[in-house]
Amino acid sequence: MTTSERERGPGAVGHEPESAEGGGTAISGEAAGRGGETGGHKGEGAEASAGADASAGTGRRARQASGYHMGDVATVISVDEVARQAAEIAEEVSVAELERLARGAPFLSIENLHAGYGKMEILHNLNLRVGRKQSLCLIGPNGAGKSTILHAIFGFNDIYSGRIVVGDGDDRLDITALSPNEKLSRAGIAYILQDKSVFPGMTVEENLWMGGYLMPDPDQAKEAAERIFEKYPRLAQRRKHPAKVLSGGERRLLEISRALVMNPEVLLVDEPSIGLEPRYIDMVFEILDDLQNVEGKTIIMVEQNAKKGLEFADIGYVLVSGQVAIAGTGEELLANPKVGQLFLGG
Ligand SMILES: Nc1ncnc2c1ncn2[C@@H]1O[C@H](COP(=O)(O)OP(=O)(O)O)[C@@H](O)[C@H]1O
Ligand SMILES: [Mg+2]
Repeated sequence: MTTSERERGPGAVGHEPESAEGGGTAISGEAAGRGGETGGHKGEGAEASAGADASAGTGRRARQASGYHMGDVATVISVDEVARQAAEIAEEVSVAELERLARGAPFLSIENLHAGYGKMEILHNLNLRVGRKQSLCLIGPNGAGKSTILHAIFGFNDIYSGRIVVGDGDDRLDITALSPNEKLSRAGIAYILQDKSVFPGMTVEENLWMGGYLMPDPDQAKEAAERIFEKYPRLAQRRKHPAKVLSGGERRLLEISRALVMNPEVLLVDEPSIGLEPRYIDMVFEILDDLQNVEGKTIIMVEQNAKKGLEFADIGYVLVSGQVAIAGTGEELLANPKVGQLFLGG
C-alpha cells in the first residue's frame, strides 16, 4: 500500500483499502462462505464437482469452478484451470479497438499501465478506455487483476509506469499520482468497496455524513445526504437506524449512496452483487442503471456474475493475467461462445 493512514484521512476507514485489497485473497475466502447463501449455488457446485471429479479438466468443471475459490486444493486447481483456458482464448486487443468501444471519446483512460503491490507486478501494460456516461464491466478468472485495476485508478497500489487520465478535451487531468482523497475530491472518482465499509454502529445518516468527510463544511455533507434520502426513500425510512440492522440490499444501497455524497462523476464498483440475494442483485443493478443513464455517471465495475455484469454494461473486458484478453460491447461478449463457455455457464 502506498498511502499512509493519514493521507487517506479521517473517513478513510470507510474507504479502507485493506478490505478491498483482500479482494483477491482474504475476502474471497469469506465471499465463498457468503456465496453459499446466494450467488452460491455456483460455489457449492464448484466444490462438489471439484471434489467428485478432480481429474476431469472439462469445460463444465472449469466453468463451475469459476466462482470464488473455496480453499481446498482441488478447487484451487480448477481455478487455475479456468485461468489456463481463459489464457487460451485471449486475443490481440488493440488500443484502437478500445477507443472504438469508448466511442472515440474516452473520459477515463488507462494507458500502458504497469502496476501491482510492492515488487509484484500484476497489471502488465494495461490499457482501458471508457467514455463519459458509459459503463464498463471487467470479468475474468479469480486473481486476474480486476480489483487491482480499480485499486490502480483510485490510488491504492503501486504504479510503476504508464498513466491514468480523466476528463474531456482540455479538462483532461493526469491522475496517476493523486492520492485517493484527491481522486475523490479533485478528480470526481469514487470507489465503492466490495463489502464491510459501512460502520455498523453508526446510523444510516451518520454513515452518509461520513461520505462527505472531505467536504470543507459538514453542512454540505448533510445537504448531500438529504438529496440522497429524497432519491432513495427506502434509505430515508431507515435514517435513524444503526447500519447493522439493514438488510443486505439496504446495506449495499447505503454503500453506494455514501459514495454519492461527493457527487462523483466516475464510480468504481467492485462486485456489487456479491453476497446478495437475487432480488437485491436486481435492485442494485437498477440503481446502477439509474446512476448511469439518468444521472450520467461513468461506471467501471468488476462483476463475478458475468452475465449480469455484461447485460448491464456497454463495454466488457475479459481480463486474464493482468491483461485485456477480449474486449467488446457487453452484447458482443454475451454472444461470444468462448466467453460463454468459461464465464457465463452456457
Ligand atoms: N494487497 C495485495 N498485496 C499483494 N498482492 C495482492 C494484493 N491484492 C491482490 N493481490 C494479488 O494480485 C493478484 C490480482 O488480484 P485481484 O486484482 O484481487 O484479482 P481479481 O479481482 O481479478 O480476482 C492476485 O495474485 C492477488 O493475490
Ligand atoms: Mg476482485
